[in-house]
Amino acid sequence: MTSIAVVPGSFDPVTFGHLDVIERAATIFDEVHVVVVHNPDKKPLLSLESRIDLIRTAVEKFDMAAKIVVTGWQDGLLVEYCKQVGATVLVKGVRNQQDIGYETQMVLMNRSLAGIETMFVLPDPAFSAVSSSLVRQVFHLGGDVSEYVPQHVIDIMAAAALSDENSAAE
Ligand code: PNS
Repeated sequence: MTSIAVVPGSFDPVTFGHLDVIERAATIFDEVHVVVVHNPDKKPLLSLESRIDLIRTAVEKFDMAAKIVVTGWQDGLLVEYCKQVGATVLVKGVRNQQDIGYETQMVLMNRSLAGIETMFVLPDPAFSAVSSSLVRQVFHLGGDVSEYVPQHVIDIMAAAALSDENSAAE
């Protein structure tokens, strides 16, 4: 039987911490679906398509790229995506106790909704202070984020920031 896991998230933008978790998941499961979830309550910096493209470009370089599918989900519950593709496990990166606290309710809800289990993966400690929201903040304030996200992500964040500035000026 093929083991299929889903690594879900907003990935706005994908960080080296996320990529570390995706790579670790690919060493354990036969197929890993990285699912960029559209959250109607959040206004993302990057479009869903752009977030998907950035992850695809990053994972292309992995040895296990052939077992990784990158896609988007904006049709409601994540467990419905899991059912559609036959995934039985969600993989979440957790950096600290706070992350585990935040994730716990979702773990129990996803199990209760559809019997989907969740596996926590600790990324390399080098990435324990990295989050998408901090990357966005540091980037906007002119800081160097090259330790936290790949260069192609920085390029797209710069383009998105420029297009925001241009539309604000119009
Ligand atoms: O990267 P994030 O923003 O922490 O990811 C949160 C995410 C996308 C994994 C979570 O919000 C989610 O699973 N959303 C999908 C909608 C859903 O199924 N909600 C019920 C979750 S218990």
